[in-house]
Amino acid sequence: MAQPSLADDRVLAPFGRRDCEVVANEATGGYRVVSALDAHGPVPRAGQFYMLTGERWGGEGGRPYLPRAFSVAEAEASHRGVRLDFVLEPIGPGTRRLAGLGVGETLRVTGPLGRPFSALAALAPNAAGAILVGGGIGIAPLAILRRELADRGIPQRALLGFRDRAHSGGLELFRCSELRLASEDGHTGHQGYVTDLLAVMLEGDDADSAAVYACGPPAMLEAVRALCAERGVAAELAMETPMACGFGSCFGCAVPLAAGGYMRLCVDGPTVNAADVESALIEGSGH
Ligand SMILES: Cc1cc2nc3c(=O)[nH]c(=O)nc-3n(C[C@H](O)[C@H](O)[C@H](O)COP(=O)(O)OP(=O)(O)OC[C@H]3O[C@@H](n4cnc5c(N)ncnc54)[C@H](O)[C@@H]3O)c2cc1C
Ligand code: FES
Repeated sequence: MAQPSLADDRVLAPFGRRDCEVVANEATGGYRVVSALDAHGPVPRAGQFYMLTGERWGGEGGRPYLPRAFSVAEAEASHRGVRLDFVLEPIGPGTRRLAGLGVGETLRVTGPLGRPFSALAALAPNAAGAILVGGGIGIAPLAILRRELADRGIPQRALLGFRDRAHSGGLELFRCSELRLASEDGHTGHQGYVTDLLAVMLEGDDADSAAVYACGPPAMLEAVRALCAERGVAAELAMETPMACGFGSCFGCAVPLAAGGYMRLCVDGPTVNAADVESALIEGSGH
């Protein structure tokens, strides 16, 4: 097992689980944006995630038993605390329960957890800007990354892909970017995969001047990894595995490393330099 390197600018979670008041729960296409006020937590960094439960959790048959992992999609500090936005796709008992939380109800959070996205200068010292590539609900961590890059005056282009209208949403979180869309059913943008757009974009860029940050389903991440490896473009992938604890103690999120051995995705990731993995197709991951 690789040793976690804490030599990054991750924000560490305070001990314990915190109760946050849900302040909004809105539809965005086929997804929900659930917002909660974290009165006592720190401001997270893009790429970090939280383990979430509702106040009421295990339902009929006991499921879901465990908290669920969600990337933070935006965070805004005020005198009342930090407003955290999560973009959810209701696909199972945990996501459905969270998506059904009403304003005034309690969202329980542990976090922020994991390693944030690297700074552009660390990922690719000569890059002129960032290309963000998101697929489906994987757009969530790219929304806060886009804003962090914009705050630093770093140029960014966003390529977002969706399966169909029902499995899409959250575009308003990207309103300031140069944005190109793809959909498999052709309901918006290019008909096909978001990686088709990336391949065209990388044709026009020198390998040194581009850097890619990606999050999405494993097959999309693997296509991004392979494209960038072929062209010598630096890339960082926000990956997913099922996570039982989220903070390094269950070893359930182990991902094999290209150099041999494993990392725990919850503490050594979820953002991973694409060169560190042989494949983004991890057994057990993907909806
Ligand atoms: C670091 C991280 C960040 C995430 N961010 C988001 C987010 O911003 N928005 C969002 O909607 N979802 C996100 N997810 C995925 C989310 O955690 C799962 O969809 C959720 O746990 C499913 O719980 P459930 O009880 O609704 O469904 P379950 O019944 O537990 O799962 C439904 C299906 O999804 C598969 N699945 C469950 N968890 C995962 C997982 N982690 N990776 C891949 N497949 C899984 C299961 O195998 C099953 O087929 C993230 C996961 C990780 C690890
Ligand atoms: S989820 Fe438990 S060690 Fe990573």
